[in-house]
Amino acid sequence: MNSNIEIIDSIIDLKAEKEAIILAHNYQIGEVQDIADFVGDSLQLSIKASRAHGQMIVFCGVHFMAETAKILSPDKKVLLPDKNSGCPMADMITASQLRKLKDEHPGAVVVCYVNTTARVKALSDICCTSSNAVNVVRSIPENREIIFIPDKYLGDYVQRQTGRKLILWNGYCPVHAMIDVRDILEIKKEHPNAAVLVHPECTPEVIDIADKVASTGGMLKYVKASSKKDFIVGTEIGIIHRMKRQNPHKNFYPASGRTICPNMKLINLEKIFWSLEDEVYEVKVPTDIIEKARAAIDRMIAIK
Ligand code: 13P
Ligand code: SF4
Repeated sequence: MNSNIEIIDSIIDLKAEKEAIILAHNYQIGEVQDIADFVGDSLQLSIKASRAHGQMIVFCGVHFMAETAKILSPDKKVLLPDKNSGCPMADMITASQLRKLKDEHPGAVVVCYVNTTARVKALSDICCTSSNAVNVVRSIPENREIIFIPDKYLGDYVQRQTGRKLILWNGYCPVHAMIDVRDILEIKKEHPNAAVLVHPECTPEVIDIADKVASTGGMLKYVKASSKKDFIVGTEIGIIHRMKRQNPHKNFYPASGRTICPNMKLINLEKIFWSLEDEVYEVKVPTDIIEKARAAIDRMIAIK
């Protein structure tokens, strides 16, 4: 296969033949976003997966997202086009570490960020994404202790928004942790009217200078509705593809040239084609884990 057009045509044919849909996260490369049936943030993708028709979901994102899709659509074959596409933050807490933490805080409600493995979700009471973490914590009765895992920065943001004291874990996103206040202030000097958008996985210092703190889906909504022309984007740079497509007359400046998630960039058109053709790499989750994790994810989907 020697051109993108040929690959795209073959993907479209295979998709129809296998009754597959392609879901892609906002951080995927432009070509992948453009061929997807739906592009979105973690919560939007989970909702799409739970309502998907057909036989197969090709998930262009990282492993925990494909696993979440499998839990929500257990009868479908869920494929991840690159088996190495993991999320380092999701691997920062294991099921046995969570078991120990729960033993240290008996009676605490466990809120797990969606960036966790299925086994960790199965031990949690309620899952959340960056777009509903504040509302998820607000839904928990005031008299209950709360364990929030694994992202200490998202957890800190939620603490500050809700006024609730959370038991945090020392996890973080290595990509968002690289965003530095000094870099943003430098860009601001050149574009003083730019709105600063940051993801809640950023450090508290970065969050403190933002005009808007939001999930990737929330940022896209904000940009569309804003009367501003310039935006400094404090998250993975893949999102700028969608921002430009939706707002061709607005300008977007990455908060840092280093905010590239290498795992999100592993998937490309060739790998999607191979994935559909050979039905690889199938994401499997044991039935007992699906049942337990599903309860936590269903509670998350119910809270916007
Ligand atoms: P969103 O839910 O905002 O899309 O974030 C996912 C993620 O992995 C951020 O690093
Ligand atoms: Fe994980 Fe960070 Fe990549 Fe998101 S950007 S998938 S949290 S490593």
